[in-house]
Amino acid sequence: MPLLKINGGKELTGSVYISGSKNSCLAILISALLFDGRICISNVPDILDIRKLLSIFNLLKIEYFFDNNSVIINSSGLDNTKVVSDDVKKFRASYYFMGLMLGRYHEVLINYPGGCRIGKRPIDFHLLGFELLGGKIEFWDDLIKITAEKLVGAEIFLPKKSVGATINIILCSCYAEGETIIHNASLEPEVCDVINFLNTGGFNIHIFDDSITIQGMKKVIAKSFSYKVMFDRIEAGTFICLGLLCGNLIIHNTNYKYLKNIIYPLIKANARIEIIEDKILVYKSNLKELMIETGDYPLFPTDMLQIFMVLMAFFGGRAKETIYEDRISSAEMLKRMGANVIYDKTSALFKPAKLVGSHVIGNDLRGATSLLLAGLASLGETHVAGYEYIERGYENIYEKIKAIGGDIVFEE
Ligand code: EPZ
Repeated sequence: MPLLKINGGKELTGSVYISGSKNSCLAILISALLFDGRICISNVPDILDIRKLLSIFNLLKIEYFFDNNSVIINSSGLDNTKVVSDDVKKFRASYYFMGLMLGRYHEVLINYPGGCRIGKRPIDFHLLGFELLGGKIEFWDDLIKITAEKLVGAEIFLPKKSVGATINIILCSCYAEGETIIHNASLEPEVCDVINFLNTGGFNIHIFDDSITIQGMKKVIAKSFSYKVMFDRIEAGTFICLGLLCGNLIIHNTNYKYLKNIIYPLIKANARIEIIEDKILVYKSNLKELMIETGDYPLFPTDMLQIFMVLMAFFGGRAKETIYEDRISSAEMLKRMGANVIYDKTSALFKPAKLVGSHVIGNDLRGATSLLLAGLASLGETHVAGYEYIERGYENIYEKIKAIGGDIVFEE
């Protein structure tokens, strides 16, 4: 089994340049298919998830060009609304094809979308929205077929905030008759980035408190335009934690406005962090214990919890997960490295400890990334199996780490 070997305990110093947001890009690239025109989307990270999405574009014979972190899509309408392949099954963000195809073509046949093993990942809220807009849903084995005679704007109350369901209902309502209102909508920065993209292209979508209104357009928008995707705040948060553990980093291409919920608890725990325009200066710090509970934006982001658990393994603290059933389980690998931790399905309690290099296994994107950070911060050699998960969400991660002095190599 291929392993990533980390020779840890080294001081890391230098600059890190944050890439575009994975979760914004995945939604924006699919949203672009609502338009007829030549759409240039920049700041697209070259990561496995983007490559996986573009392979589905190939399946659908969508014309695109991907170079130098920009994707140019020549969208002139699809002649196929079947999104059925093994890639679709394994790839959670493929669910956005449901909202897009139902919204523009009034039909879609798609595999039930998969995703990381951090929890069940249901799509009942998505389907609720599609039905309220006029969709008729049928299940055939692991396929979902949705059709609509016509789509009419509706008032939709989401039982729980959901990034995916919010975006999917927006996509489905863009060409519905009249106005759609989504209550209890997710307002994560990535959702707002998708709304900004759609409005740049001529749609009429607005946010009022935690509701989003979408004015349905009467005909397909034919327009060519460009759009730059926001930075990846989870990648930025990851490197902030690495700097606190291992050295002095200058993190470029950020926007503090979207990082407050990550940086504030660190400042409270004595982290040495400075903000200078779009740069974050991070210094190795001796932190007080961290008490973190995840929640919907603007609360602490669930995607950062496993990364913060590495800080807790060294400095102590308590992690509480409220979004997914199985994120905390990556504490087991930190325990194998010497962390003094007790944990259950939703919480982990850490006492300060010194971690040492070990053989560990990553099982999901953020869990595997947390082991990379733990290995860099621990004396000795750490061998990470499952490092491929990291490449799903972090562009050029190995080059970025080597550039600041990280000692990592691959082992067959
Ligand atoms: C998005 O997942 C992100 N993925 C996740 O990032 C992120 O952790 C999550 O939002 C929360 O912020 C992408 O954007 C591709 P949800 P999503 O719908 O949309 C429940 C990463 O590491 N729920 O906001 O799937 C669900 O079980 C990934 O980049 C339902 O019950 O998440 C969860 O408990 C991991 N029914 C909660 O809502 C539904 O129909 C939030 O899920 C939908 C969701």
